[in-house]
Amino acid sequence: MRIRVLGAGAGGGFPQWNCNCHNCRRIRSGEMRGLKRTQSSIAVSSDGRHWLLFNASPDIRAQLEAFPDIQPREGVRDTGIRAVLLIDSQIDHTTGLLMLRESTRPLDIYCSEMVRQDLSSGFPLFTMLEHYCKVNHHPVPLDGSGFEIPGIADLKVYTHALKSKAPPYSPHRHDPHPGDNIGVIVEQISTGRRLYYAPGLGEIEPHVGAAMAAADCVLVDGTFWQHDEMARAGICEKLALDMGHLPQSGEGGMIETLTTVAKGRKILIHINNTNPILDEDSPERKTLNEAGIEVAYDGLEINL
Ligand code: MLT
Ligand code: MN
Ligand code: ZN
Repeated sequence: MRIRVLGAGAGGGFPQWNCNCHNCRRIRSGEMRGLKRTQSSIAVSSDGRHWLLFNASPDIRAQLEAFPDIQPREGVRDTGIRAVLLIDSQIDHTTGLLMLRESTRPLDIYCSEMVRQDLSSGFPLFTMLEHYCKVNHHPVPLDGSGFEIPGIADLKVYTHALKSKAPPYSPHRHDPHPGDNIGVIVEQISTGRRLYYAPGLGEIEPHVGAAMAAADCVLVDGTFWQHDEMARAGICEKLALDMGHLPQSGEGGMIETLTTVAKGRKILIHINNTNPILDEDSPERKTLNEAGIEVAYDGLEINL
């Protein structure tokens, strides 16, 4: 199985257009050793030709342009994208669907009923796309059961509900429903190798721990280092968990979880621009290195 990180940043990307935080300022001025990152998305394939796209970021155009293996091969209009799976309805994970409107066939989109509702009401992308390429919506299970996706051979996908947050625009922002966010296990049928992908993860419930333990690679929520990181940066008072993201540091945090639970390769993704781990010379990055935890970057390829 091949996994391509198209974008490893959280909403806003890194640097964020209007942000002058410690990281954004220093990456612009060249004072920091690190990499810029576009917004959160990955693509997975078993044959390197037919790809399942996870999330569609506002930066999708540049992300596809930077990745020849997903580009047109045959005919006047073509793409390696066979289907799109959305893990939530957040702006950074869905706005790129508008950029796919020129598709010559309806977009096959796999998502929960809650996400379908958000994208048909508060942020009516599905409704809008009816006037362009149209959408074939495929509901996903929330109980961890598996399914295959036509056009993508040798991969089986298992989806389960997570405790995280619906987007600020959603009617469910403060009224959580199963399916506002999901975690995904992708298994290559012929090899049994497994990826666990959960870029928005607020709580390590037993089924999440089990998925992490059984995966050859976990690619999980790396948004914040600290619970009050946004407040410390003088940006806003919102806490990590108010936004549905488990911070890395502290008791019960993502580092402790990954160290005790995950058995395979451990990679953080969806990194917010305020997070000190973006600075490759920071003590926080050193802590991750010592714990054997990697930080995803745009263009990272994982072969499982
Ligand atoms: C989040 O996951 O909390 C988002 O990145 C927020 C956003 O897109 O504004
Ligand atoms: Mn996000
Ligand atoms: Zn910033």
